[in-house]
Amino acid sequence: MKWGIISTAKIGMEKVIPGILKSDSEEVVAIGSRNLESAKEAATSLNIPKFYGSYEDVINDPEVEIIYNPLPNHMHVEWTAKAIKAGKHVLCEKPLFIDPIDAELLIKLRDQHQVKVGEAFMVRTHPQWIKAKEIIDSGELGEVLSYQATFSYFNTDPKNIRNIAEYGGGALRDIGCYPIMTSRYLFNENPEQVILNAQIHPDFKTDILSNAIMKFYSGRTASFTVSTQLSPYQRVHVLGSKKEMEILIPFNAPTDRNTLIKINNGDILQKDIEKIEIPACDQYQLQSEAFSDVIKKNTKVPVSLEDALDHSRIIAGLFESLETERWVSL
Ligand SMILES: NC(=O)c1ccc[n+]([C@@H]2O[C@H](COP(=O)([O-])OP(=O)(O)OC[C@H]3O[C@@H](n4cnc5c(N)ncnc54)[C@H](OP(=O)(O)O)[C@@H]3O)[C@@H](O)[C@H]2O)c1
Repeated sequence: MKWGIISTAKIGMEKVIPGILKSDSEEVVAIGSRNLESAKEAATSLNIPKFYGSYEDVINDPEVEIIYNPLPNHMHVEWTAKAIKAGKHVLCEKPLFIDPIDAELLIKLRDQHQVKVGEAFMVRTHPQWIKAKEIIDSGELGEVLSYQATFSYFNTDPKNIRNIAEYGGGALRDIGCYPIMTSRYLFNENPEQVILNAQIHPDFKTDILSNAIMKFYSGRTASFTVSTQLSPYQRVHVLGSKKEMEILIPFNAPTDRNTLIKINNGDILQKDIEKIEIPACDQYQLQSEAFSDVIKKNTKVPVSLEDALDHSRIIAGLFESLETERWVSL
């Protein structure tokens, strides 16, 4: 399929476009930027045949079939809507919605124009997550009651979109969305109630440290800590009545080495650990191939607009609980 890219965002330039270009079935035919020179430079560096000085030109290019939207969070809905109206399929970066109210418009437009629209969670197509779900569903861990995640990095640049509140910045929206999405995926259900404790930066007004608990209808719990100002780290633990499962690099799985899932067979000294190696792969390549496959076969998008709506409702509920200092029912 033929992709058009709106903006020269870092994630596109460094991960998503190279991932698409690795695939035999995918092509990137155009890239646009607010600045024609930047678009030209980006196109030259990644061998993209066409470049434009606006996002509209990419969207209106008749050759483009899929728009990849990695704009800052507050621009996701506006540009996804424009692309849908031009009849394009859209893979939009997470978090797709800041305000859950926007979902109604995009769902209506998607259905009207009969296109596919997905929230770009590359982890959802990484084999380590598919394996983790298989392990839980097989019953090997026993009755699974608890999901725990940590995800942090250190970024104090006031110009970075993650540190700009009006752009939808902050730890919860930038990386808290990963434990939210993956716990829903593993548990196959939505949380009933959520609560958040957070530290808000005095100048940025964004959450730089968020600790959340989500209670699911089944009684299971997912809890996570995310931060924009802590030493870079990531880990997921899933605890069952018989065994514990650990995903070592759950979110930014490297492409140059195998990833690892550890199953601890109930020994606190960790003497009885089973190691499951997942062969190295590029989760951004897999994400683009999966999305393109959905279009060709008219199947379900891995992370749909309805999922994105659920993610935004959970994040909105968490922020409400921070204000009210109470559990929020969703
Ligand atoms: N899935 C992942 O692994 C992953 C990882 C990182 C980020 N993301 C998501 O990807 C998106 C982009 O993140 P990023 O870190 O790549 O961002 P970034 O490098 O800051 O890029 C954002 C781009 O948006 C365009 N833009 C338009 N209006 C803008 C404005 N007012 N301020 C700043 N930029 C503006 C700019 O492109 P032009 O100048 O070319 O127009 C800019 O390069 C976010 O939604 C983020 O959550 C996803």
